[in-house]
Amino acid sequence: MRDIEKSGVAETKSNPNQTSNRKLDHIRICLEEEVESDYSGLEEIKFVNNPLPELDFNDITTEVVFLGKKLSAPFLIASMTGGHPDTTEINRNLAVAVEESGIGMGVGSQRAALEDRGLEKLELEELERSFTVVREFAPNAFIYANIGLPQILQHGIEYAEKAVEMIDADAIAIHLNFMQEVIQPEGDVNARNGLKAIREVTESLKVPVIVKETGGGVAAFVAEKIRDIGADAIDVGGAGGTSWIGVEVYRTEDEISKKIGYEFWDWGLPTAFSIVECRNYLPLIATGGIRSGLDVAKSIAIGAEIGSAALPFLSPATRSSDEVLKLIEFFIRGLKIAMFLTGCRKIKELRNRQLIVHGRFKDYLEVKGIDVQKFCRNREV
Ligand SMILES: Cc1cc2nc3c(=O)[nH]c(=O)nc-3n(C[C@H](O)[C@H](O)[C@H](O)COP(=O)(O)O)c2cc1C
Repeated sequence: MRDIEKSGVAETKSNPNQTSNRKLDHIRICLEEEVESDYSGLEEIKFVNNPLPELDFNDITTEVVFLGKKLSAPFLIASMTGGHPDTTEINRNLAVAVEESGIGMGVGSQRAALEDRGLEKLELEELERSFTVVREFAPNAFIYANIGLPQILQHGIEYAEKAVEMIDADAIAIHLNFMQEVIQPEGDVNARNGLKAIREVTESLKVPVIVKETGGGVAAFVAEKIRDIGADAIDVGGAGGTSWIGVEVYRTEDEISKKIGYEFWDWGLPTAFSIVECRNYLPLIATGGIRSGLDVAKSIAIGAEIGSAALPFLSPATRSSDEVLKLIEFFIRGLKIAMFLTGCRKIKELRNRQLIVHGRFKDYLEVKGIDVQKFCRNREV
């Protein structure tokens, strides 16, 4: 948790009752303030260097197939935005870069374009355009739709179907963010029947369903339930990256909420712990504090299929698609170098490369009864 006593941002906030304006608030806060939590667990995992990798760097391939779609590298730009006309350019820049680099991305929550708020037809079209621009500029990329569980609970599968249709999505993420909702003055805090609602979506939608945490992480006992209701993947969304409680601390003017927000800033299972928890249940997206290709490599080594990051891409996306491309290149080249220095020609091989773990992450493995020596030697299942 960072020292954020400065703030004053709340004074400039726009009408909090509107989903669309709230989206802009979030973007502004994420661009201007310290919103990260400080421990993902990946810091305490190291690869063992192989000084004789017996491999030509140029023969390394980062290609993978994820949920039936081929990607040039196991990396996605995580859901961020759309839902306000001012976000169209951000999504366009992300889409152009994703298409060119052959990776994938998620759009932000499509709630704003689905809610019936009596908008004029033109206004609604503009809102929708902030999402549809993604498919327009990334016709071949893996694109996933996004809607929150609270909206599915309120409006049923219709919202999920419309979200997929709107952007011709390859998959849909249903995001879980009750830790954020509970601290928002206008938050949706009825989480009853969540599993049942997701089950209805998995049973009726034709595209794969990703259940996506947004900073709190997913533990094994929840992963098992998510698998049993027919989801296709879990985005672990662990602690260690953007803290949504942290973001809300900047928005709220309520003193008690602010105080609670500080206390819960780092709430959640750190990303690396969450990957270990969920690795035997479903394909995993590692999100939450993934800040480099090396972080992606570590996440895959301990059980994820693919990594993804949101916050680092926000600022470049406000500037240009070239800036986004540069950052994607940073991630992919770093991943490739990690593969080279551990003698991996293919992504899968990262799973049986030697690791060194220490600190809280090692303690966690021990507490869970995982044989640390075996874990460090080989994690293939
Ligand atoms: C500006 C911003 C907006 C976001 N909006 C959404 C959203 O609408 N839906 C969602 O599922 N996640 C959303 N997220 C969460 C991210 O997808 C991701 O789970 C989280 O930020 C952790 O990744 P990070 O540490 O790389 O930022 C957003 C993140 C950011 C930074």
